[in-house]
Amino acid sequence: MIDFKNLIAKGLKKVTNIEEIESYIEIPSNKEMGDYSLPCFKLAKELKKAPQMIANEIKEKIELDENVISRVEVVNGYLNFYINPSSVIKNVFEEINEKREQYGSSKIGEEKNVVVEYSSPNIAKPFHIGHLRTTLIGNSLYRIYKYLGYNTTGINHLGDYGTQFGKMIEAYKMWGNEYDLSIEPISKMMDMYVRINDLCKKDEEILEKCRENFRLLEAGDKYCTDLWNKFKDLSMQEFNKIYDVLDVKFDSYNGEAFYADKMDEVVQKLEEKGVVTESEGAKIVDLSDVGISTPCIIQKANGSSIYATRDLAAVMYRAKTYDFDKCLYVVAYEQNLHFKQIFAVARYLVDEKYVKGLEHVSYGMVSLPTGRMSTRLGNVVKIEDLLNETIEKAKVIINEKNPDLENKDEVAKKVGIGAIIFNTLSTSNIKDQIFDWNTALNFNGETGPYLQYMYVRTNSILNKLEKIPNINDIDISLLNDEHSIRLVKEIYDFNNIIKQAADKNEPYIISKYLINVAKLFSIFYNENKIITDDKKTSDARVYLTYCVNLVLKIGAGLLGMQMPNKM
Ligand code: ARG
Repeated sequence: MIDFKNLIAKGLKKVTNIEEIESYIEIPSNKEMGDYSLPCFKLAKELKKAPQMIANEIKEKIELDENVISRVEVVNGYLNFYINPSSVIKNVFEEINEKREQYGSSKIGEEKNVVVEYSSPNIAKPFHIGHLRTTLIGNSLYRIYKYLGYNTTGINHLGDYGTQFGKMIEAYKMWGNEYDLSIEPISKMMDMYVRINDLCKKDEEILEKCRENFRLLEAGDKYCTDLWNKFKDLSMQEFNKIYDVLDVKFDSYNGEAFYADKMDEVVQKLEEKGVVTESEGAKIVDLSDVGISTPCIIQKANGSSIYATRDLAAVMYRAKTYDFDKCLYVVAYEQNLHFKQIFAVARYLVDEKYVKGLEHVSYGMVSLPTGRMSTRLGNVVKIEDLLNETIEKAKVIINEKNPDLENKDEVAKKVGIGAIIFNTLSTSNIKDQIFDWNTALNFNGETGPYLQYMYVRTNSILNKLEKIPNINDIDISLLNDEHSIRLVKEIYDFNNIIKQAADKNEPYIISKYLINVAKLFSIFYNENKIITDDKKTSDARVYLTYCVNLVLKIGAGLLGMQMPNKM
């Protein structure tokens, strides 16, 4: 497919001799101002001439193929370029014909390794709504990077280690027989944890026992290890139910415990570098030289390691094991300082190329709907219940809209889960969110169900035909109305959109784009009769519908959403 932007840049480079001119080119949001535009203000400063004059001069001199770039115009210091519509259509159709279900995929990531760490819940504790957000953002990033050809590894850095397990073991010894852990194990473990914590506050002797349990666990004591494994298995069973419903997978579940025997190396290496100091018995690394006023604690006064030490061990391990170009941490913004510290200490532990690849993909808070759900379950909303309830609500809507639909349960699952996924990925990561069923499940809003509904529409058009028309039989000059052209141009952008989403680690760039495609399709569809008496016109419009069908499905897949065939 022709890279129009690059083509224009080449023409501009000849005239201006500016190597990086491509990075000056913008894509106007208003297509009337051109498909691409060069603002000449920066150049004006450098060349000490009025922007308008520069724009005019470039316009005079630039040589571009008229079959591709049909028009160049100067408006208020901008040089605007208009792509010849038939060139875009031809390019898009040929590319779709060649790549089909792989449209938009690329090889730019070949030979590059990306680690995406996401979800990472704590065992014996609830999987909360914040974990849902990291799970969905991370899952989408994982899919996006893969699609761009990166060698991608998804890691669930489970919170399965720490002194709290000494307490859990003591609680189990004392009250284990009071709880049936085969049903709702996580809330029961939580209950035990709250009880033992209270007791520890009052009873120093119990607290000492808990500490001893943790020491035993670290030393590999069988009883303690077995119990810890039990807590972990029970938790994983619950988490896996959620991952199954959401269709989320990981390549590795190496969590905090995995690094238990890899932490001495961290401390040792930092000591060798001479960057460890002592503060009230604890070992710390001062980071004031890089503007971080809170030092990173790497060992507590009692000699035990902490969360940060395990993350540092993980950086070393991942650099060695995955040789990553990027290592992304999809974790809530509450941990901004933690990751600043980790990345700053990492410069003493791994090569600079790895330090550069570390990135905290920070995300904002999520609040849940109030009302029935929160009153019934207390403060802790079980994500599994939220998912099921959304599926139920989708079922009610489907029953109203299309009572005779086949596979209603399956469709309701795709719609309900799709609504949650899309809702979560429809704002930029860092924005706070409120989850609200009415918004998420609104078939006319900017929602998952709306996208699915538009996709189903394209399906029903395509299903009326025996087969997708052959590209060689299509007369693209028949797609000459503004709505068709606008839609094709949007489809052309898909490649670029996926790359942008990866560059910024923002799946919402894709979700916003898909809504645009769906809206433009809906206008195209309302303005043009797709299947007409004129076979040639029908074929051209059907082919465009086929492009939309593919883009919606591929795009939704990159978000982690599934599309129903009918709904
Ligand atoms: N388990 C932590 C939590 O639930 C998140 C872990 C984030 N990842 C990391 N490498 N520290 O809050």
